[in-house]
Amino acid sequence: MTSIGSSAAETFQAGATMSGSDIRAAIEGRLSKLITSEASVSSNLHSALKYALMGKSKRVRPLLLYLIAEPDKASMDAVLDAGCAVEMVHTSSLIFDDLPCMDDASMRRQRPTTHVTFGQPTAILSAIALLTRAFGIISNLEGVPAATRNRLAGLLSDAVGWDGLVAGQEMDINSRATLRNAADVEQLNWLKTGVLFVAAAQMGGILRGLEGDRLDAIGDFARHFGLAFQTADDLIDTTGSEAEAGKDIGKDGDKPTLVSLFGPDHARLTCQQHIAHAEQALIASGVNAAPIRDLMKLVFDSRQKAASR
Ligand code: IPE
Ligand code: IPE
Ligand code: MG
Ligand code: MG
Ligand code: MG
Repeated sequence: MTSIGSSAAETFQAGATMSGSDIRAAIEGRLSKLITSEASVSSNLHSALKYALMGKSKRVRPLLLYLIAEPDKASMDAVLDAGCAVEMVHTSSLIFDDLPCMDDASMRRQRPTTHVTFGQPTAILSAIALLTRAFGIISNLEGVPAATRNRLAGLLSDAVGWDGLVAGQEMDINSRATLRNAADVEQLNWLKTGVLFVAAAQMGGILRGLEGDRLDAIGDFARHFGLAFQTADDLIDTTGSEAEAGKDIGKDGDKPTLVSLFGPDHARLTCQQHIAHAEQALIASGVNAAPIRDLMKLVFDSRQKAASR
């Protein structure tokens, strides 16, 4: 894997006002708030979805959305909420992904998986609750015109649905034997991970009013970021440590990945190529690239440490 940018661990800045850790804290605070109202329904179900959502996560997708949207004070809540909606979709996909019928994982976000702690029925229900709540949040984004809210909901729905993440998970579980070359694996990585990166980034772009070529460039950037991210994740699954990843490793060793098919060196090179393409597209999009490059640096540098052993 590669290192991004020359300046070491600068905290990434959102405009001149919020640091990266401030934004992460704002996202965490907003996530907590957005699930509070569910508490009265069933304390067990609420505990499960809170447990899954509030575990130790990098929050890459909502951070990405935020940094692309660059909200001012007036649009801040809507942008945070849109990011939280994407995070809920992502968290629901992790709960499903960890189930015994999928990857059968026992650790996630530095603690036992949701089904291990709460049982499979409650885990499944909590994933459905988070997934559906996400669309409720999008439909209520404050100060955002109805047409834009509809557009965001459609974009997120396409990303998660049968032409997106769900299709990727189906391919991951049931079409392993048909994946033989790098293009096949890239299509898998695109569906199970890339589409949600693109949705998050373009939702941020739409919320700041980007259209046309600039929005396309944002999509191109996020596609390469997502493909690099999944490739790095597959490297960690092979060579990383459970303590550092905070989740089971070795779960995908018998599946076709760039690592299992072509070896770690090839996967690292592919990862670097995607990062380079992502950076080019980011520049072409005309958004403030520095904080986003810092986010990528943070993500890939920590992953590099974990995967290079
Ligand atoms: C895990 O996503 C699933 C993949 C797409 C590899 P993250 O690595 O973003 O997980 P969290 O949100 O930080 O837990
Ligand atoms: C990532 O697949 C994609 C989704 C969870 C949708 P993985 O199975 O590689 O994710 P981890 O490694 O369990 O986080
Ligand atoms: Mg999986
Ligand atoms: Mg998994
Ligand atoms: Mg993985």
